[in-house]
Amino acid sequence: MALQANGVAFSLLHRRKPLSVKAVASENVSTLPGEEEKVKLGGSDLKVTKLGVGAWSWGDTTYWNDFQWNDRKLKAAKAAFNASIDSGINFFDTAEVYGAGITGEVNSETLIGSFIKERQKAGPVDVTIATKFAALPWRFGRGSVISALKSSLSRLGLSSVDLYQLHWPGIWGNEGYIDGLGDAVEMGLVKAVGVSNYSEKRLREAYNRLKIRGITLASNQVNYSLIYRIPEKNGVKAACDELGVTLIAYSPIAQGALTGKYTPENPPTGPRGRIYTREFLTKLQPLLNRIKDIGQNYGKTSTQVVLNWLICQENVIPIPGAKNSEQATEFAGALGWKLKDPEIEELRSLAAETQPVTGFPVEKL
Ligand SMILES: NC(=O)c1ccc[n+]([C@@H]2O[C@H](COP(=O)([O-])OP(=O)(O)OC[C@H]3O[C@@H](n4cnc5c(N)ncnc54)[C@H](OP(=O)(O)O)[C@@H]3O)[C@@H](O)[C@H]2O)c1
Repeated sequence: MALQANGVAFSLLHRRKPLSVKAVASENVSTLPGEEEKVKLGGSDLKVTKLGVGAWSWGDTTYWNDFQWNDRKLKAAKAAFNASIDSGINFFDTAEVYGAGITGEVNSETLIGSFIKERQKAGPVDVTIATKFAALPWRFGRGSVISALKSSLSRLGLSSVDLYQLHWPGIWGNEGYIDGLGDAVEMGLVKAVGVSNYSEKRLREAYNRLKIRGITLASNQVNYSLIYRIPEKNGVKAACDELGVTLIAYSPIAQGALTGKYTPENPPTGPRGRIYTREFLTKLQPLLNRIKDIGQNYGKTSTQVVLNWLICQENVIPIPGAKNSEQATEFAGALGWKLKDPEIEELRSLAAETQPVTGFPVEKL
């Protein structure tokens, strides 16, 4: 989304030197979560929970958190991390450009590293961490991928990550970056690799380039929700299904707009308020009312219904962002049940009446 892209760019201009965290062996495995609740990520050997948790807002002061990060928000983010694991969700999505905002606040990877470390004091922790490489215009070639990855590992305090993704396509081309992903696999620094915000054409190119080396492209992370269904129209969802690449759905609850929490009388504050306006939220009401009704039949919240709708699309793993333990715990209730086919279709056609908000434009290139 345009505002979101600006937020990332803004934070890059104000980046403070990343904190360094001593690497710890976090690959020790505990009993969580149940293997039956996990799925393979694309054609890779990596198994992940059917829903992950996004960590973009952790430490962020450019788009989220009303431009302020403080101890209370830090505690809430840590509680979200712990509540996710306690409710059986241990797949976390972060990026080198998350956090570290306008006032040089902490980085999302650094925070996750510290949350892991703290939790390890009580025993081994089983987490699946996905992070991302920022294809910045001044980064060239495969070597830049490895050096960025090593910095991410340092911030996370890990010797390897489970999934390493190219956050967005490079403006000078992507071959070098794709080769860098392959190198990362061969160096044992990552278990699986993916892309993000890739069009169908770019997805196929990345898939084929890695395949020559015998490496699987596991995932493409794109904006996908009940009210943002561009991946169904631009060929990305179909290509993911055909190639066996998992579609990781970001902004799956439309940044809170689909939870029912925001109304025309109570729109979100900050940059989100310029996207999910009073007018937009007014038009959304019939859909939100129906989501709520359907949820009541199952004893589920609206948030759980819209996440379940995405999971029902098959080959989709939503990664909603949680700011606190209540939100994280609620996400887990999206798993273990299924909407009925007529409900899935009814929500699809009702949502089609909503004009999608502007997306991150690179996916259309
Ligand atoms: N690859 C990319 O370019 C890209 C782009 C965007 C996002 N992502 C990833 O996808 C993740 C999720 O996307 P997102 O954060 O943009 O949007 P999202 O998951 O659709 O919305 C997250 C926001 O919704 C609100 N919320 C969460 N749970 C709720 C609940 N149970 N009830 C009511 N409100 C709730 C929270 O904000 P409030 O409490 O303030 O309302 C939260 O920050 C990110 O964290 C990131 O990891 C990737």
